[in-house]
Order: sequence, then C-alpha cells, then structure tokens
Amino acid sequence: MLLLCLAVLCLTASSPCDAAPPWKSGLQPVFTGSARNKLLLISFDGFRWDYDQDVETPYLDKMAQDGVKAVYVTPPFLTITSPSHFTMLTGRNVENHGVIHNIWFNTITQEKKQYYMTQFVDSYWNNGSLPIWITAQRQGLKAGSLHFPGTAATYKGETVGVRQVEPRFYDHSNETDWKLNINKVIGEWFHQKDQDFVSLYFGEPDLTGHKYGPDSPKRREMVQQVDRTVGYIRDKIQDYGLTDKLNIIITADHGMSTVLQDGLVEKIILSKIPGFSFKDIQFQLLDYGPVGMLLPKEGMLEKVYEALKGSHPHLHVYKKEEMPARLHYSNHPRILPIILIADPGYIVNGFLPVHYTKGEHGFDNEVMDMKAFFRVVGPDFRKNKIVDPLDLVDVYPLMCHLLGINPEINDGHLDNTKHMLVPKNNTGGDINKKYNGMEALIGFSAVIGFLVLLFIITTSYNMCKRTRE
Ligand SMILES: *[C@@H]1O[C@H](CO)[C@@H](O)[C@H](O)[C@H]1NC(C)=O
Ligand SMILES: *[C@@H]1O[C@H](CO)[C@@H](O)[C@H](O)[C@H]1NC(C)=O
Ligand SMILES: *[C@@H]1O[C@H](CO)[C@@H](O)[C@H](O)[C@H]1NC(C)=O
Ligand SMILES: [Zn+2]
Repeated sequence: MLLLCLAVLCLTASSPCDAAPPWKSGLQPVFTGSARNKLLLISFDGFRWDYDQDVETPYLDKMAQDGVKAVYVTPPFLTITSPSHFTMLTGRNVENHGVIHNIWFNTITQEKKQYYMTQFVDSYWNNGSLPIWITAQRQGLKAGSLHFPGTAATYKGETVGVRQVEPRFYDHSNETDWKLNINKVIGEWFHQKDQDFVSLYFGEPDLTGHKYGPDSPKRREMVQQVDRTVGYIRDKIQDYGLTDKLNIIITADHGMSTVLQDGLVEKIILSKIPGFSFKDIQFQLLDYGPVGMLLPKEGMLEKVYEALKGSHPHLHVYKKEEMPARLHYSNHPRILPIILIADPGYIVNGFLPVHYTKGEHGFDNEVMDMKAFFRVVGPDFRKNKIVDPLDLVDVYPLMCHLLGINPEINDGHLDNTKHMLVPKNNTGGDINKKYNGMEALIGFSAVIGFLVLLFIITTSYNMCKRTRE
C-alpha cells in the first residue's frame, strides 16, 4: 500500500513538467520537411494596387479578411510584363536578371521579336539567374507553371517540370478558359500530381486597361471577372481539401496609367525634335510605351544626347551610366547607351504617333499608378491584417521560405515580409518528441530505482527487526 502511494506520487509529480514546455505552447506545428505547405503564385497582369476601390470585390475582400493584404507592391523598373515577372521568379532587379524588355532584339541584324516569340529564345531568359521552379526542383520539390512569362524557356538545361504555354493566338480574357486552367492547376497538378509550387498567369486586366483606360467601366467589369475568379480558385482549393495545405500569393507585374489624348498635350515625337536625326541612330527601341532606348552610331552619342536632353518638358533623357541607381536599370550589356523615360500621361514616339492606347505602363516605379496589388492567404499567413508596402523583389525570398528551400543570390529581403507569417517557434518537432521520450524514460527509471531502494530498505529493516527479535 505504501509502495503504491509512493509510486503514484512520483508519477503525478512529473506531470506538471509535461504541461508547460515553452515550445509546446506554440499554436502552429513546427516546420519539418513533411509539414511543408504547397504554394500557388498567381499574377493578374496589370492589376493596379487600387483597382478594388471603385468596384465591388466581395471575393478579394473575403481573401483579405482570411489573410494579409499589402497596401501595394512596387514593381521593378522597367514596369513591363516580362522583366517584372522574371523579377517575381528570381528576386533579382532587372539589370541583374537580364530580361530587360518584352522585346528581344539584335542591334546588328535589326531583328526584333515581340513578346510571344521572345518566350522561346532560351538565351534571353537563361542569362545567369535561375527561376524558383528550377531551384525548387534541384532541392527535390515538384514545380509547375501555366502561362507565366518564362515558362517556355530552358534554364541551365532544365525546364519547369509541368508546364502549359499559351498558344500563339490566345484569348487572354475568356473566363471559361480561366476556369479550365484553374481546374488543371488545382485538380490535376496540385491534387493528382502532388506539385509543391505552381505559378499561374492571367493576361487581364492589363489588356482591358490598355484598350479602354484604367478609369473605364470596362476595366471595372474586368476587375469583377478577376474577383469572381479569385472566389472560384478558393472554392476549388476547398473542394480538393487543400485549404489547410496550400498558401496563395496573388499579385501583379505593374499598374496602369491614363494616356493623355491628342489635342490636350504636346506629344513626344523624336523625329520632330530639332537637331535629332534617325541617320545618327544604329538601332532604336521606340513606340513601346513610355520608355525608349537608342544605340547611336559610332561617335554620335554626344550629338544625339545633346539634341534630346531638355527637348520636351515631360521627357527624361539619360546616358546608361547616369541612370538613377534606385531604378536598377543600368548595369547590363543589353541595355542600350541612351534611355528615354516619359512622365505619366506621355509616351515616346519615333517617327509618328502610332500608339493609340488609352492606358500605359512602363513608367518610373515610384509613380503611384505603377504600383500593383498584393494579397496572400493560407496556413502560414496571419489573418485579417493589412501591412505596409513591399517591393516585388521581396516576394522571392518569401516564397523560398514558405517552400523551405535555399534561395539563390537575390535582391529581396525576407525581413520585409516576415510580419505576414504566423509566428513559429522553430525548436523542431522531432527534438520535442525525443525530449518527451527521454523525460518518460528518466521518470520511469527514477520510479523503478526508488521502488527498488524502498524494497531493499523495507526488507532489510524487517530482516533487522526479525534478527533482533
Ligand atoms: C515561442 O517561444 C517563446 C519562448 O521560447 C514564447 O515566449 C513565445 O510565446 C512562443 N511563441 C508562440 C507563438 O508560441
Ligand atoms: C547575358 O547576356 C549577355 C548579352 O546578351 C551576355 O553578354 C552575357 O554573357 C550573358 N550572361 C550570362 C551569364 O548568360
Ligand atoms: C471561351 O473558351 C471556351 C473554352 O475554351 C470556348 O468554348 C468558348 O467558345 C470561348 N468563348 C469565346 C467568347 O471565345
Ligand atoms: Zn504586364
């Protein structure tokens, strides 16, 4: 009876220790290889940071309640599609990853390839920076990509594991097609094929913003289509039981700004500028929006520069080496010696104004109209939180952190996004289990030891008593 009491006392005495180890009070399971959550990166091309402010967006609002919303994200310069998307995938500024324009060009043959055909020029994308798909695959993860810029290219001999490149002539606005693509990514790639990371691209609301302008009713309608699509994506994720296993990042490559129309402003047309002549130019990249680039013929650089500098109050003219450092658009051999940047509302025309869009992007990334939206939701993110602006280069280290992979050298900072994450105590689940096992073993041994000792004492006491009797 006495022994039993003692044993019970010993066992209960050790239990308060079990109740309170600090690492066990953490709300989340600690990160281990098997506990890694999946990640879906979605880009809606040209979704400006404030597009949800003049139209009802119930599904985006719900997502913000369930997750984190940044006030805006600052894209890299140039604020155009291929350079900016490649920054998302690499965490590098444009001068460091080398995808410096939507257009591929050869200054000697004068050849130019438009956005779509550039997708298939491997050497254009594979210029020293590895996109996150390849890095993830090298570290044992499975990656996929649907329509995302850069998907078609081969990087150091490797492509993204599962991929879908859009056909040459593709309707980027068809909502039925969007749903089919979502079914493929969620149902097939994440659910059946157990992919860890997928990037998914939609060509809107960029096209509508260009065609009708960012303040048009058409743009507001397209934002509602995007909003319904966000609802559809989250429903699909729920249907496949992935809500607690999949983090989602939704963002965009740049914003959109209204182009000032004929008659209201003096347009920037290089051929009309006194002292400027196309005879002095070896190669030009003009008529692609607010930024132009020139390669003057040998010995003509100063002449061209002097003619253009100060020629229009809304045109900024830089030699490559005098570009403002904050734009990170100088230090790459593909960038031409003279760079022309127009103020918002203006575009850079060559011979004639051939550009008749109502909306444009490509401006300085400090311009508020160039900022993009940024939303996240999922098991690793906080809920109902609005955070300060971040830079698009910071998304890459965040993605690597979520996937538990070592990032390549990059220009982003995890510190700029850490506050979006559910805090975790990284003591390690296995250590925790080992400790509990050890504790139990020590406790058990102590009890046994004590009982043995007690047995010896009692028996010898009794024996002593008996011998004395
Ligand atoms: C993490 O552990 C520390 C003590 O090591 C504790 O103070 C803190 O509350 C824990 N955080 C969470 C979220 O559990
Ligand atoms: C990047 O491209 C430039 C010119 O297109 C070339 O000179 C350079 O060697 C390339 N760098 C790498 C690492 O591929
Ligand atoms: C949209 O895409 C679906 C599926 O690919 C197709 O059947 C339909 O005809 C398309 N609608 C339009 C208006 O092009
Ligand atoms: Zn774009």
